[in-house]
Amino acid sequence: MAQSADDTWAESILKQMTLDEKLDLVRGSNPFTVKPRLTPDVAKGAGYVKGVPRLGVPYLAESDASVGVANTMGALRPGDVATALPSTVLLASTWDPGLVERGSAMIGSEARDKGFNVLLAGGVNLAREPRNGRNFEYFGEDPLLAGTLAGHAIRGIQSNHVLSTIKHFVLNTQETGRTILTANMDEGALRESDLLAFEIGIEIGQPGSVMCAYNRINGAFGCENAFLLNDVLRRDWGYKGFVMSDWGAVHGPSIRQGLDQESGTNPTDAGYFSAQLRAALAAGTVSGADVDRSVLRILRSIHAVGLAGHPPARQPIDYDANGRIAQEVAERGIVLLKNEHDLLPIAATVRTILVVGGHADVGILVGGGGSSQVNPVGGAALKVPAVFGKKLYSNSSPVAALRAALPQATVSFDDGTDPRRAAEAARKADLVVVIGEQFTTETMDVKNLNLPDNQDALIAAVAGANPATVVVLVTGGPVLMPWLDKAGAVLEAWYPGQRGGDAIAQILTGAVNPSGHLAMTFPASERQLPNPTIPGYAMAGETVQRDLYGLPKDMKPFAVTYPEGANAGYRWYDKTGAKPLFPFGHGLSYTRFAYKDLRVTGGARPGMSFAIANVGRRTGADVAQAYARVNGVRRLVGWSRVELKPGERRRVVVDVDPRLMASFDVAAHDWHVAGGTYDIEIGENVERPVLKAKMRLDDQRIKP
Ligand code: GLC
Repeated sequence: MAQSADDTWAESILKQMTLDEKLDLVRGSNPFTVKPRLTPDVAKGAGYVKGVPRLGVPYLAESDASVGVANTMGALRPGDVATALPSTVLLASTWDPGLVERGSAMIGSEARDKGFNVLLAGGVNLAREPRNGRNFEYFGEDPLLAGTLAGHAIRGIQSNHVLSTIKHFVLNTQETGRTILTANMDEGALRESDLLAFEIGIEIGQPGSVMCAYNRINGAFGCENAFLLNDVLRRDWGYKGFVMSDWGAVHGPSIRQGLDQESGTNPTDAGYFSAQLRAALAAGTVSGADVDRSVLRILRSIHAVGLAGHPPARQPIDYDANGRIAQEVAERGIVLLKNEHDLLPIAATVRTILVVGGHADVGILVGGGGSSQVNPVGGAALKVPAVFGKKLYSNSSPVAALRAALPQATVSFDDGTDPRRAAEAARKADLVVVIGEQFTTETMDVKNLNLPDNQDALIAAVAGANPATVVVLVTGGPVLMPWLDKAGAVLEAWYPGQRGGDAIAQILTGAVNPSGHLAMTFPASERQLPNPTIPGYAMAGETVQRDLYGLPKDMKPFAVTYPEGANAGYRWYDKTGAKPLFPFGHGLSYTRFAYKDLRVTGGARPGMSFAIANVGRRTGADVAQAYARVNGVRRLVGWSRVELKPGERRRVVVDVDPRLMASFDVAAHDWHVAGGTYDIEIGENVERPVLKAKMRLDDQRIKP
C-alpha cells in the first residue's frame, strides 16, 4: 500500500531527531509543574508535551474535554470561561450524529481559540453500571449508538486541527477503585460490546490518540495490556495513532506493551517514560526501535490531524453563537419520559406557575464534577460545595426563561428546602415545575439511584398536592422515581449545559417539540442490575479521604465481573425478562408517528427500509429504531432520526453492519454471522416493536 503523506512526513522528521527530542515526545507533563516553567502564551490545562520547534513539531497543549474546555471549579485558569456543551449522555439522547458532530466542532473550536491543540474527549465506555459517577461523560449503553456518536464527536473536534482522544480503553465502567480493580470479561463478550464501541468510534472518528484506562482488564493494567494495545488495537484494527496514558495510569516503561506516551507527569513522579525508560534503553530491555515506533505514531497523528501546520494560537471567541449551538443540542437531547393528559406543552390558559428547587431561580446545574468540569460563560452563577469539588450552575435560569416566554403567567419560585411549604404553594398554582437534581462526579460512584437530599419526599409532597406537576430531572444518568404515579409529566434534562434553563423552558412551553430518546435504560429497581451493588463499593463507600484519583487509603485490589457479558443495558433486561421503569430508546413527542411497509434484505449485506409518517398536528422529529434478535437477545442494528411536518411521510433506509448480527468467534478469530432467519423489529423504543419482519442471512465470517 502506498505510504501516506502522514507517514512520509513523520519519517522525515524522525530521522532528524535526537534521542533527547524523542524522549521528550513520549512523555507529557503537568503544565503547572513542568521545568523550565512554561511562558504565559502556552495554554495550561491537563497536560503539556514538548515539541521540536527546530523541526516544525508543535508542542501539545492538552485540555479536557468532552463537554467543553475544562476549567475545574474555575481553578485551572482563574477567570477563564468556556461554553458548556450539554453532558455527553444528553448528546447520546439526540441520536443525531450530525448534531453531535456540530456541537463537538464548537467545543473543538473553543479549545483551538484558547490555544489548545489536544482535547481529551471521546469518552465511550459503555454505561453498564447506572451508578457510575462518570456516565454523564459517556454515550450510553449500546455499542453501535455509542461508537457512532463518539466517532462523530471526534470528527467534529478534529475538524479544528485539534487532536481528540477516544477513551478510556477499556472497561472503565465504574469509578469505585478505578485505579486498582481488574475488570474481567471473556474476549468474545468484550469484542461484541465495549471493544466494538471503540472499534466503531475509531473507524468513524479516526482519533489521533487512544487513552488507555486506569483499571486492569483480565489482570493486566490498561496501559500495559499488550493483548489490547498490540493485538487488538494495532494488529486487528490497524490503528495508526498513538496510545497515551490516563493521568497516573502508568506502572513501568511499558513501551513494548503498546503504550506510546506517559501523560501529565510531575518532576517528582517515578519517571516511567523518562529516567526508567532511559535505564531500560541502556539495559537493552527496550530498544531504540521501540522508541522510534512510538515517536513515529505520535508524529503521524500530529500530521494527520493538521497540528503541524496549525500551531496553537489564541483567537477571539463568539460565545453567543456557541451558546446557541449548546442550546440547540440541549433542546434535542432532553427526553420527555411521561406526559399524562397532555399536561405539556403548558397550556395558554395557565396563569400561575410554581417552580421548585434546583436553584432554578439562579440557573441550572451545568455539568458533573471532575476533570471535565467547565466554568461556564458568564462565570458560575452559583457554586455549591459538593463531594469532590463544587457544583457549578450556569446563569440560564428556568424561572427567568419561563417568565420571558409566558408574560401572561405569574411564575414564582420556592427553593424546595421545606416540602410542606412547597406543597402548600403547589396547591394554589395552575402548574408546578419541580427540579430533581443529582450531582455525579469523576472519582466517585453514586451510592444508589435515588435522588439525594430528600428530593423524592419533596417531589412526592408537591405532586401529591397538585397533579399538574412536571418533574424536570437534572441528573448524570438514570434515577428511580417513587413519586412517578403522582407526577403528570417527567422530563429528563441530564446536565443541559450553558443554556440549559432556556432549553428546558423551550420544551415546557412547546416552542420546541421534544425529540430526545434514552440511550440508557432506567431501572425500576437496583435489584434488576447485573451487579445489584457496585463491586468494591462496600470497601470505598462514602469515604472522603481519597487520593487524587479517588482511591481511598489502603483500599485493596478487587475484581469486577459482568454477569451480563456482552449484553449490557437493555440486552440484560431482554435476557432476564425484567421490566425497567423506562426502556432504552424511549422518548415522547408532542406529535405522533406511524410506521408502515417494512421491507428487509438479507444475504450478505443485511438492510431494511420502512415508511414513517407524522400523523399528529405538530412538526416533530422521531427516532425510528431497528432491532434484530441475535442469540435470543435484541440488538440495536440501526436507526434514523427523521423530522416531519404534520401529514408528511418519508421512506427511511437502514443498512446493517454484519458485525452487529455476528458473534465473535475467539477460536477462529473472526466475526461469525450464522446463516439463518432473524427477527427484525422497528419501533420507538426497544420494548414496543411497531413493525416486524424476518430476515434471512447467509453464513459468513468477517476478519476483524
Ligand atoms: C483524569 C481522567 C481523564 C482525563 C485525565 C486528564 O483522571 O480519567 O478522563 O482526561 O485525567 O485530566
